[in-house]
Amino acid sequence: MNTADLYQDLRRFDEEYIEFAAFKAAADAIRGNLEMFREVGMAKNLVVLGESGTGKSTLCRWLAAAYPKQEHKERDILPVLVVGVPAAATIASMAEAFLTPLGDPAPNSGSISEKARRIVKLVHGCKVEMILIDEAQHISDRGQSVTHYMVADWLKVLIDGMGVPTVFLGLPRLEALIQANEQLRRRFSNRLRLSLGQDEKRTIREECLELFQSLAQSLPLKIVGGPFEDGELGVRLYYASDGRIAHIKKLMAGALRLAVEEGYGSIGPGLLERVFTEEVWWEGVGALNPFNVAFAHRRLDRAGEPFEDVRPRQVKKRG
Ligand SMILES: Nc1ncnc2c1ncn2[C@@H]1O[C@H](COP(=O)(O)OP(=O)(O)O)[C@@H](O)[C@H]1O
Ligand SMILES: [Mg+2]
Repeated sequence: MNTADLYQDLRRFDEEYIEFAAFKAAADAIRGNLEMFREVGMAKNLVVLGESGTGKSTLCRWLAAAYPKQEHKERDILPVLVVGVPAAATIASMAEAFLTPLGDPAPNSGSISEKARRIVKLVHGCKVEMILIDEAQHISDRGQSVTHYMVADWLKVLIDGMGVPTVFLGLPRLEALIQANEQLRRRFSNRLRLSLGQDEKRTIREECLELFQSLAQSLPLKIVGGPFEDGELGVRLYYASDGRIAHIKKLMAGALRLAVEEGYGSIGPGLLERVFTEEVWWEGVGALNPFNVAFAHRRLDRAGEPFEDVRPRQVKKRG
């Protein structure tokens, strides 16, 4: 295989969508809310939580593609509006994040209340039927609680004014922000998680292995388990990825690149072990490398490890 073929394969591999159980459940729930709004005008909200690399932004893109924008002379029809919350969100930057994808010609002009009026008008004018607010944990990242309550309160008033089903997507710590704000808590009581392991019928190891195998179908090389049987390979994939699709893909893409560069005919634990150290965690060797025979069989979530648990900030309660 030459380099051009390798890059083409890697690109195709990266673009592959897999409807793993949690992704499908979240997509179905969002589509269900959109259809309900379309049919009876009822706006139900939802929260989708997931660590980095679990597929939140991909889900937003997938839904936007499923309900594409239609361009018209007078005004575009935009069934799904995706808003990315900027880091350290303020009301002004939030308003701009709404107005820009809605096609407002001057998204940063006007007072706060005027911007909110324009957002509501454009949302109705563009016939928006679903609002996906990605990186929603940034609403609370400002650190000054007064400011973030103001953003949250402004958003709550805006959501009521728009009357369109809304989804907050964000890191698990988003839950603390919602819990701390009585008004948001009431509006966003339905929660879903995007990491693997939400499927009641299968264990997380089985799910990891299945995802690995379905992704493997779009690779030009065979996957071999080496010393590990399927069940054991599933366990090791789980520890190496923490159940996040981004990490499974990264390991596979890295292994493909090494295999092609070094002329191997298949991808196995030896290559995955090297990729884990080179691309996921450089300290991940020996007992700390999930593909090493001596692996310690535990989650790599302690301080300094790749899946370290980031505790939610303490947020003061307010009614
Ligand atoms: N359903 C999916 N099928 C295939 N690949 C996915 C899927 N969801 C996410 N990915 C891959 O995982 C990586 C991270 O996804 P992303 O949506 O950016 O995660 P998040 O927004 O939760 O941090 C991307 O490279 C993307 O290609
Ligand atoms: Mg994202």
